[in-house]
Amino acid sequence: MTTTQTLTITRPDDWHLHLRDGELLKAIVGHTAAQFGRAIVMPNLNPPITTTEHAKAYQARILDALQQTVPAADFLPLMTLYLTDNTGPDEIYRAKNSGIVHGVKLYPAGATTNSDAGVTDLLGHCAKTLEAMQDEGMPLLVHGEVTDPAIDLFDREAVFIDRVMIPLRKQFPALKVVFEHLTTSEGVAYVTEAEGPIAATITAHHLLYNRNAMFVGGLRPHWYCLPVLKREKHREALLGAATGDTGRFFLGTDSAPHARGRKEQDCGCAGCYTALHAMELYATAFDSVSRIDRLQAFASENGPAFYGLAPNTSTITLEKQPFTIPGSLQLGGDEVVPLAGGEALAWSIKA
Ligand code: DOR
Ligand code: ZN
Repeated sequence: MTTTQTLTITRPDDWHLHLRDGELLKAIVGHTAAQFGRAIVMPNLNPPITTTEHAKAYQARILDALQQTVPAADFLPLMTLYLTDNTGPDEIYRAKNSGIVHGVKLYPAGATTNSDAGVTDLLGHCAKTLEAMQDEGMPLLVHGEVTDPAIDLFDREAVFIDRVMIPLRKQFPALKVVFEHLTTSEGVAYVTEAEGPIAATITAHHLLYNRNAMFVGGLRPHWYCLPVLKREKHREALLGAATGDTGRFFLGTDSAPHARGRKEQDCGCAGCYTALHAMELYATAFDSVSRIDRLQAFASENGPAFYGLAPNTSTITLEKQPFTIPGSLQLGGDEVVPLAGGEALAWSIKA
């Protein structure tokens, strides 16, 4: 008789999540709350969350949406600010004192969805603010891609390390930095070897898929995200990092829903919806290299340790039972296609 393999881990957290707003927020927040204890909530709304006051109001809307949809949920949204050329040190002190803001997000202007208000010259315009962040222990969460049109889309992360990350960390060596949604072997090598307080989040889709996924049998917009999927050798490096023991890599889904029609059009939006089946995706990825034993550290320990928070106290249980991903979801009046919709994953969450 065979017994089903199960895995009980400390309740995980999602250190990079897009929760959107309004009806879509109400429709999706329960998916994240069903799996995670906390999530770092990205500030790229339109208009962006640039002040502590905005962040407080947004957190209240998230908690209200949770209350209306899954009142029994035990979930805490950790808020972030969107760094602009005009964010001043005072805003950092307010953010720190609020107790609800846990990071400040750097979007290079034009790098991705709703990044038009992003930073145009980080060290030129934001030095005093970065100094305040360094002093206050406020992490900088970095979308690490250059936007220079002369740089190939697939090389934008590697070039960012040389042009921005290294000079930034030389000037502010004690600044806590999270290299968000890492996608390359160059990124893995940098985060593994660099001195000082640096860590990185890794998405489930970058662990499971290489760039071929965007072109299987035709153009596949639901596999398009930013930073874009990379070559197989990069995926293998990410899997090695996620399952390794540096303590510097942790879970961040970058789950980012867009209505089906906004992805399936002549200029489709970047973003993969993975909040529904996040832990099923990660468990399948870890098990693919026989390292399911490393999921607890990646999903539940390394993130809180970097952010200076305690791990969650409850647990979740996964089991090696197939989970079929729905082909489509109705979310707040929109149809959203989840990542790998219609396909089966090796692991599921035990009810
Ligand atoms: O694919 C992405 N989608 N990457 C981002 O950086 C932003 C996100 C979104 O908000 O849709
Ligand atoms: Zn993101």
